[in-house]
Amino acid sequence: MAESPYLEAVELCKRYEDGVLALDRVSFVVRPGEIYAMLGANGAGKTTTINLFLNLIEPTDGEARIGGIVTHREPLEAKAHVAYVSENVMLYGNFTAMQNLEFFARLSCKRHYSRDDYRDILRRVGLSNDVHHKKVRGFSKGMRQKCGIAIAMLKDAPAILLDEPTSGLDPKAGWEFCRLLESLRQEGKAILMSTHDIFRAKEVADTIAIMKEGRLVMEKPAGELARIDLERLYMDYMAGHNGSSPVEAS
Ligand SMILES: Nc1ncnc2c1ncn2[C@@H]1O[C@H](COP(=O)(O)OP(=O)(O)OP(=O)(O)O)[C@@H](O)[C@H]1O
Ligand SMILES: [Mg+2]
Repeated sequence: MAESPYLEAVELCKRYEDGVLALDRVSFVVRPGEIYAMLGANGAGKTTTINLFLNLIEPTDGEARIGGIVTHREPLEAKAHVAYVSENVMLYGNFTAMQNLEFFARLSCKRHYSRDDYRDILRRVGLSNDVHHKKVRGFSKGMRQKCGIAIAMLKDAPAILLDEPTSGLDPKAGWEFCRLLESLRQEGKAILMSTHDIFRAKEVADTIAIMKEGRLVMEKPAGELARIDLERLYMDYMAGHNGSSPVEAS
């Protein structure tokens, strides 16, 4: 029997104050141990979806639920169950990687970690010992991204939201990142990510969705797409050859 959903978008709608309809009745679920990748053009509504799960913004209709908790009704409770890595990770430039981890662990009341734990987690995300004590001010975008992922992992939340996590990563780091996601899936995390990286999405995701102009126009298990040229399919959707009526989440 399939596990019950951990992340749920239920007829989620968002119209911004200036009238832009960014999301139009988007519904999907992400189960524990599942990686769900959202593809879509710039402005399709991917970040808006993630921000609704984080309650950084409120829906104009519908609900985002985390472990059954409606994010805009119980934002603090919902936030406790989710870790987040943004597109541009915010770190303290004057702190070292270790100090950033210590700081953010304390902020989320995770005081049980030792310095060895921090070192392990930094290595796990692909930051080698020689940079653990360097100030992050001098880190490249990819290194910052890895630091952000390490901080998200410290929270040990059952759900992880990632907004374009591979955007700054070199090919090797991208590959390592996918292995990391796979190990988090093994631990039973429900993972929702937005990405422009069709290749990585196909490689790592269990479910792939395409968003277009605020609608979910395709959602398929990655297994069904194994023999399909996903890039071509994506282009077809962008060109409107596959219709643009929203799909029901399975
Ligand atoms: N704060 C805001 N106020 C008004 N409109 C917004 C705001 N944030 C986003 N939008 C609009 O909502 C739509 C969806 O934007 P969103 O950032 O969710 O897209 P995206 O799929 O994440 O795009 P990208 O791939 O470029 O990151 C766009 O039309 C955007 O201009
Ligand atoms: Mg975005």
